[in-house]
Amino acid sequence: MDNVVWQPQPRQLEFMSRPEDEALYGGAAGGGKSDALVIEATRQVGIPYYKGLILRKTYPQLTELIEKSQRYYSAAFPGATYNDSKHTWTFPGGAKIVFGSMQHAKDKLNYQGKAFDFIAFDELTHFTYEEYVYLKSRNRPNGPGTRCYIRSTANPGGIGHAWVKDRFITAAAPMTTVWEKAVVQYPGGGVETRWSSRIFVPSSVFDNKILLDNDPDYLARLATMPEAERKALLYGDWDSYSGQYFSEWRDKPEHYADRRWTHVIDPFEIPSGWRIYRSFDWGYRKPFSCGWWAVDYDGVVYRILELYGCTSTPNDGVRWNADQVFREIRRIETEHPWLRGKNIQGVADPAIFSADGGESIAETAKKCRVHFSPGDHQRIPGWLQMHYRLAFDENGFPMMYVFKNCKAFIRTVPTLIFDEHKVEDLDTEGEDHVADESRYFLMSRPIKPRAAAKPDEYSKNPLSIFLDVKREDLTRPTARVGLEIISEDET
Ligand SMILES: Nc1ncnc2c1ncn2[C@@H]1O[C@H](COP(=O)(O)OP(=O)(O)OP(=O)(O)O)[C@@H](O)[C@H]1O
Ligand SMILES: [Mg+2]
Repeated sequence: MDNVVWQPQPRQLEFMSRPEDEALYGGAAGGGKSDALVIEATRQVGIPYYKGLILRKTYPQLTELIEKSQRYYSAAFPGATYNDSKHTWTFPGGAKIVFGSMQHAKDKLNYQGKAFDFIAFDELTHFTYEEYVYLKSRNRPNGPGTRCYIRSTANPGGIGHAWVKDRFITAAAPMTTVWEKAVVQYPGGGVETRWSSRIFVPSSVFDNKILLDNDPDYLARLATMPEAERKALLYGDWDSYSGQYFSEWRDKPEHYADRRWTHVIDPFEIPSGWRIYRSFDWGYRKPFSCGWWAVDYDGVVYRILELYGCTSTPNDGVRWNADQVFREIRRIETEHPWLRGKNIQGVADPAIFSADGGESIAETAKKCRVHFSPGDHQRIPGWLQMHYRLAFDENGFPMMYVFKNCKAFIRTVPTLIFDEHKVEDLDTEGEDHVADESRYFLMSRPIKPRAAAKPDEYSKNPLSIFLDVKREDLTRPTARVGLEIISEDET
């Protein structure tokens, strides 16, 4: 049949035949995952009110998927049109497929109040668990008779590695359905038990005969990568990366007010007796970072304000000279109501004290009446301090909070990942300036290790703790088999 636009390969067919509510297709690189996802989205385009959503973490990364859609949709659905500014396909009957991203916190607003019958996440490990759950809440029918489900692809590694692995990989053997029980309490008093299902379908380049035939060297390229990448991308090994460094980090807007099980909180007036500190990490081409901290009478620290020298491009410094940076810091400290009139003690990267011929950065600071003492720069003990402070006690209270106005901390610290080679450390390729500066501060008032109470949800082994998981064969009717799209004009 030469009018076939796209036909699944055997593994893709298995993925596309699954009836579970959620399925993750993944493991290794090049197996044909993204192709299968883009095609799966079209399954219900014959229903006029159907809406599908295809997501990648950042907008530029979507280009690959949009190109795939242009290749396949135009040929298979004559009359389907693509609106470039809305990133939306409209099919002849009215059905829509939207391409979206979730790069910035404000992107969430794009999905507020919307419903999508089908949601696809390409590279799910680039998303946080919170983002997944939020978007999952948008998975609702747009009319009678549509099937509501979620499909994702992923390679190991990335900020979401830990939760994706817990949810799909360690939850059950591949190709085994995991049932999650949810007990719904109705306001009127009734209780209903509902089950939702998910599955992991492994994929590797060995399943993609088309790619191997077209590009036999692809295998060699994967096979010659460094060990961690090779294990992950060629064989789909989920243990070769460990993902997010501060996996205990929680940002829960619903708890900003009660300050439990969250590190981010609403700002409040700082009581006059609390001590105030300043921590600093120098940067010119890379961002400089200055944080102000308040300490309460129990020794709990609050990051209350920050000045982060970053352009609108992540990890790109504003290139201010030292004099400019410290004059701004001084201005903030004399004007801001939380800082004005306070005796603020400063701690900074010890490197700013080295005078390489000229004036050291610390001396410039001093001239602007911004005083620092050299911080303790031992990395691992510093990161342990951060872990101890982030740990929640049994009531959900940590020893460190971040006011929600401290956007740089909230944006950068949770994205830091483990270093592949120095396994205890974090990967310094990440945007780590806020973390470094915070570390100098935390090392200036170290605390003892604290036994962490159980985190509230997915972090360590959530499935055995929080979910009633049954592993059994599906009893629901299986879905129609995978798609074979035939170009309409040739039928
Ligand atoms: N069923 C198919 N028919 C024709 N070509 C296919 C098919 N499946 C995959 N391919 C081709 O194989 C190549 C790799 O597929 P795809 O991009 O979907 O892989 P992937 O698993 O998403 O890879 P990565 O891990 O790099 O994201 C692409 O060029 C794609 O068009
Ligand atoms: Mg892909």
